[in-house]
Amino acid sequence: MTVAKESIWNDSVLRSRGFSPESLKGAPDKGPAPSTLDKIKVIGGQELHGDIPISGAKNCALKLMCAALLTDKSVYFENAPNSLRDMQSQTELLEYLGCAVKREGSLMAINAGPVKTQTAPYDIVRKMRGSILVLGPLLARFGEAKVSLPGGCAIGTRPVDMHIKALEELGAQITLEEGYINARAPAGGLQGAKILFPKVSVGATENLMMAATLANGTTTLVNAAREPEITDLGECLIKMGAKITGLGTERITIEGVNSLGGAHHAIVPDRIETGTYMVAAAMTGGSLRLKNARLEHLSAAAGHLSQTGVAIDQDGADIIVSRDPNIPLKSIDIMTEPHPGFPTDLQAQFMAMLTIAEGAGLVTETIFENRFMHVPELSRMGANITVQGHSAIVRGVPKLTGAEVMATDLRASVALVLAGLVAEGETTINRIYHLERGYENIVEKLGGVGANIKHA
Ligand code: EPZ
Repeated sequence: MTVAKESIWNDSVLRSRGFSPESLKGAPDKGPAPSTLDKIKVIGGQELHGDIPISGAKNCALKLMCAALLTDKSVYFENAPNSLRDMQSQTELLEYLGCAVKREGSLMAINAGPVKTQTAPYDIVRKMRGSILVLGPLLARFGEAKVSLPGGCAIGTRPVDMHIKALEELGAQITLEEGYINARAPAGGLQGAKILFPKVSVGATENLMMAATLANGTTTLVNAAREPEITDLGECLIKMGAKITGLGTERITIEGVNSLGGAHHAIVPDRIETGTYMVAAAMTGGSLRLKNARLEHLSAAAGHLSQTGVAIDQDGADIIVSRDPNIPLKSIDIMTEPHPGFPTDLQAQFMAMLTIAEGAGLVTETIFENRFMHVPELSRMGANITVQGHSAIVRGVPKLTGAEVMATDLRASVALVLAGLVAEGETTINRIYHLERGYENIVEKLGGVGANIKHA
């Protein structure tokens, strides 16, 4: 039965979760309109000093929104990075499915009681690969799902074969037709199973963990991903009534339950945004206090950064990063790996830093096959980088020079912003909509600590 959206929210409950009286009366918050401007201009040379607030993790928030599909009760999130374009795409998808979504600032409430379709169409899924994560929850709760195949993207082909194979191991019948994954659970629902992932996958671990919460019996995920975002997702699922153990290890066990309920969850801070601003402090020779950030989620990146000569400390809920601008950065080698190894989502930013470090550093990308698209753009700014297969040798140069450059994907784009912060003269970064997918208010955050940066 379809429930009218208006009857879903209880105003006093929403108020108790932090929503303002104005927002309860007003039109639904769709988040800020995406910028109509397409460029950022940065004039390099400023040391950065001050505080930057860290937002909730995009790569967790997108999955938590999918987890809300597992119940007909309301799920409330704090610290949601609501102004990101990816969050807007995921909201669009959930609303298309029939969910009620309420947002105000960093608060979000989702009620998937009125879901009316289990089809996630191409037009929405193609905007963002994270939408493949509706597959497991829809299949587990409704017994069927039809989700567009997300297709490749700039950083690699990014297949979803492991998601499909593992759901089949839970008993789902899956066919691929006309670009869609058609999945159907057996009569009586998905069946728990032992799943051995041939390769560590963040998305496959998350899809399966969510699907298994409502399966019959016990599911064990072996060679599971261990990213902090997966642990956070698991902790929210536990609040909803799921039975999960082994979070943060390579073996996660889920004992299926009949139904899940509502929950209230504060989203973990974004470790990739944190790491990006740590690199900004390192490159500019400044000192930044990153507010509400967790160093323990960045052990490998922070360990590498400290070897370049940067001081890093956790101070209560904040991280303080500083570098003496009179002492040059030292080069280091990095190799991306699944967590707790060095994150692929910080590779481009570290490469930007190595372009101005003393000596040469070797950057090896092992997760995605095409994640060096920032190299030609950094080279246009004077960087000395040689790519050989999955590795790049970065020979530090005394200075970068401002240039007109093109953003190609989220992390490549932010690497160009970082390079612009230290380049001589003006850097214009085109196609910044990539940045708006994952960095909340980046111009305001960097401008607030002394960067000469503006939308153009
Ligand atoms: C998540 O992507 C993140 N995205 C990515 O963040 C991140 O780079 C990646 O994990 C690795 O940390 C979101 O969370 C929305 P994977 P995901 O499945 O889940 C291969 C960013 O910049 N693979 O762990 O798609 C795959 O091609 C982004 O915020 C298969 O072969 O990554 C890749 O080589 C970009 N078959 C490797 O595994 C599958 O079925 C790891 O991918 C699934 C994955």
